[in-house]
Amino acid sequence: MTLPYSPANPPQKALSGQDKNSFGYATLQSRLPVIVSKIVDDVYRSYHNLSDADPLKKEKEQEAKKIIELIGGLRYELQRDKPFRPLTDEREDVEEWNQTLAEYYPTSSWYKASWLFSECYLYRRIKEAFALTQHWKDYDPFFEQKQTVFKSSQKAVVSMAVQLTTPVDPKTHKSVLDIKVQEGPESKGTRDAFFEMVQVSLWGNATDLSLLDNPDLAKVEELQRRMLSSGSSNNSSANASPAASTVHLDQVAQEDREEHASELEKHADKILSNDSELLWSKVKSMRNGRVDIILDNSGFELYVDFVFADFLVRAGFASEVVFHAKRIPWFVSDVMPIDFQWTLDQLHRPTSDNNNFFNPTDPIEQQALQALGQKWQSYVNNGTWKVTSHEFWTSCYAFYHLPTHPSAQDLFQDMRQSDLWIFKGDLNYRKLVYDCGWPVTTPFTKAIGPLGDGEEKAEGVPTVVSFRTCKADVVVGLAEGVKEKMDKVAANWQVSGEYAVISVSP
Ligand code: F6P
Ligand code: MG
Repeated sequence: MTLPYSPANPPQKALSGQDKNSFGYATLQSRLPVIVSKIVDDVYRSYHNLSDADPLKKEKEQEAKKIIELIGGLRYELQRDKPFRPLTDEREDVEEWNQTLAEYYPTSSWYKASWLFSECYLYRRIKEAFALTQHWKDYDPFFEQKQTVFKSSQKAVVSMAVQLTTPVDPKTHKSVLDIKVQEGPESKGTRDAFFEMVQVSLWGNATDLSLLDNPDLAKVEELQRRMLSSGSSNNSSANASPAASTVHLDQVAQEDREEHASELEKHADKILSNDSELLWSKVKSMRNGRVDIILDNSGFELYVDFVFADFLVRAGFASEVVFHAKRIPWFVSDVMPIDFQWTLDQLHRPTSDNNNFFNPTDPIEQQALQALGQKWQSYVNNGTWKVTSHEFWTSCYAFYHLPTHPSAQDLFQDMRQSDLWIFKGDLNYRKLVYDCGWPVTTPFTKAIGPLGDGEEKAEGVPTVVSFRTCKADVVVGLAEGVKEKMDKVAANWQVSGEYAVISVSP
């Protein structure tokens, strides 16, 4: 089927920087210039740190200066709303980008084009500056920021590792999660765990780096504490005997779990449209299925995506989880395959190594991190978990085009074998609904076009779910009156990242 839609002609009026009241305008005006300037600082620092012993130092320095010049030029073009220009590097996607520019935006520019196109083009232009070099081709200018924020997530990371792995039952050595899921796929325990995991995975999207122009690490930690109630592991492990490596199922742990549950309940009110029951009906019917997770951010969000994927495997719902990552640095914090492996490595490194990324002092916490890292690494080694990447995810195309876009055919044919597609985060949501002016009460199944249930539905698309904290103007699937109520509660509710939607197309 040929779609009537194109990057310049979405199903509703495109969101665009032309609208001065939009988040797109604010992004182009203030957020992106900051993000771009930080790249200059990062490259500057990196080349100043080059070792004198490096025989290629001179060449690398020269190339770094060139990158800085190109990135500076990019910032100038953005701030002056200069016309888009074709890409000039030799990556495999260049031809498609240039054809798309020529066809849909031949005379357009940053504020005139759709916000989605401009923003994707910006990150692709950032990649160009590095791709044109020999020594910085694979350099990720956001890696340091990704690391720093992940490190600041230690409390929440460790807390969850303890909950997931530390035996609470001295006889069976099972963790709380294992005890819950052993009751069977349709049991109350598994169901409770599912709803908890869904929320954990959802709220993990709240702390991404592109929204936090200047990430305040204390704020990130506080956000995670509130959302995940990180206090529990500290109390539990303080009462545990490291020798027995067992956390007692005592009153304190019980109280912690209650506190955790009520924190999640409080947050449930912030999910403005919540299809998780619908998702549960799908998931509980699956046995040894395949789940595809279209990843969003690295760091803490990736960690909780692992937690969710692990739950699906442990409960027997999935025996294959395919994680889709980005091939190039994207929207600051998005996961690339290298981040995926790096994250696993930070968890299962031996504790004797004093340079451990995470350094909890409690032996139970150390063991929990390692055990989890090893378990997850074994999923990768035995093929239960796979990480893959495709150029389509870093193109300017909305996901409407996934089933029909010529260069996405291999991806789509493979993904059709899945039982469930989980799209994480805000940008994936924007691409699902084509980032345009849908009325907020539009059903999600309609707004996602060929991936939904309307006339355009593509053959072979399985259940689709989006876990998204709201960080952009577009939102669909709201009941009548929700928008009006929210407008009174918080003027910036659509973009603050404090509210969320869980949207399913069965
Ligand atoms: O810069 C705009 C944007 O796409 C926002 O919509 C969002 O704040 C961010 O970038 C990406 O968020 P996420 O990592 O959740 O996709
Ligand atoms: Mg992201």
